[in-house]
Amino acid sequence: MTRAEPTAFGVYVHWPFCLSKCPYCDFNSHVRHAAIDEERFRRAFAREIETTAARTSGREVTSIFLGGGTPSLMRPQTVGAILDAIGKHWRIADDVEVTLEANPTSVEATRFAGYRAAGVNRVSLGVQALNDVSLRELGRLHSAREALDAVAIARKSFERYSFDLIYARPGQTPAMWADELTLAIKEAAEHLSLYQLTIEEGTPFFGLHAAGKLKTPDEAVARMLYDVTQEVCAKHGLPAYEISNHARKGAECRHNLVYWRGEEYAGIGPGAHGRLDINGARHATATEKRPKAWLMRVEANGHGLITDDVLNCEERADEFLLMGLRLTEGIDPTRYAALSGRALDERRIAVLRDEGAITVDGDGRLRVTQTGFPVLDAVVADLAA
Ligand SMILES: C[S@@+](CC[C@H](N)C(=O)[O-])C[C@H]1O[C@@H](n2cnc3c(N)ncnc32)[C@H](O)[C@@H]1O
Ligand code: SF4
Repeated sequence: MTRAEPTAFGVYVHWPFCLSKCPYCDFNSHVRHAAIDEERFRRAFAREIETTAARTSGREVTSIFLGGGTPSLMRPQTVGAILDAIGKHWRIADDVEVTLEANPTSVEATRFAGYRAAGVNRVSLGVQALNDVSLRELGRLHSAREALDAVAIARKSFERYSFDLIYARPGQTPAMWADELTLAIKEAAEHLSLYQLTIEEGTPFFGLHAAGKLKTPDEAVARMLYDVTQEVCAKHGLPAYEISNHARKGAECRHNLVYWRGEEYAGIGPGAHGRLDINGARHATATEKRPKAWLMRVEANGHGLITDDVLNCEERADEFLLMGLRLTEGIDPTRYAALSGRALDERRIAVLRDEGAITVDGDGRLRVTQTGFPVLDAVVADLAA
């Protein structure tokens, strides 16, 4: 994988609506029975883009990510208008990566050509599972056949596409997952996101799980499922480049690399987060989550920010560690020292290395191993202590 230029600058745009709420999901997504006023949202997106660009002039946008929620519910004209607004207020790199998250239903696949014409060049599809029983359990509105048909349309419509699967689902065995993943890889071109099911507080799955009505694989099986994921993907030329993301060499999602490498990005839309470098200080920004309240803030103030905090050295360095160690390329400890003003503790590094959780390579980079990844949070907490 080639290292990103330090000038990478991403723009994230959040579309906060879905047709129905999946019982495992705690993303900022809302279901509306009345029609959504896309024109009003389009104007608000353009306004917030203008305000944010005024604080970050001179940047060249290297990636744009339209995430959600379900951005594939937006009309292609709305997507085109958002991309035009970004292009009006920032310079755009010739090879900009423009990703749109899509749900793999037939209705949405009919819009792919329109998104392509609007400037989207990469699509990320939420396939989640390749069998109908699991899809029903996950509360999805599409069948496996419909998802694979959408993948085929994505393949024809875009230069690049990826899809997401969720594993460690109720009743899933390592053998079942190996078969499903092998089938998925046949359909994948260059990139797959493979997420272990997380039981998020406040979701219907959380209540069912707590009541013993939803049984997920225990720790030992989850570990086997993780190992199967690494083996099958590596065997087929899609090694992990991040704890949940796999790609052929050079096909990594450049936008997500911006987050994990601690680069700069703007967050636009309800509940979007940003990291902006202004006058030498790193700002952590977040906007109002509720769509209506966000609209009203943008219409009144030109932006929906509710948080705009300057990170101190320690916060910045901890974030660098937390995000960077998710990547198989690891981190440069000298950058950590430059950010925090102190080097990582050599004794802690030695203990983690003896336990097989990390390696320190000839190039000086510190990397989490396959043994360390399943306990990444503990590794990071230990190093940052
Ligand atoms: C915000 S969703 C957007 C994609 C799109 N709305 C869809 O569902 O097809 C991004 C991805 O997060 C993953 N995800 C969401 N909640 C999860 C959970 N509780 N555990 C594991 N993965 C999850 C799913 O794979 C999903 O495709
Ligand atoms: S998983 Fe996707 S479709 Fe389901 S509620 Fe979350 S954002 Fe919406």
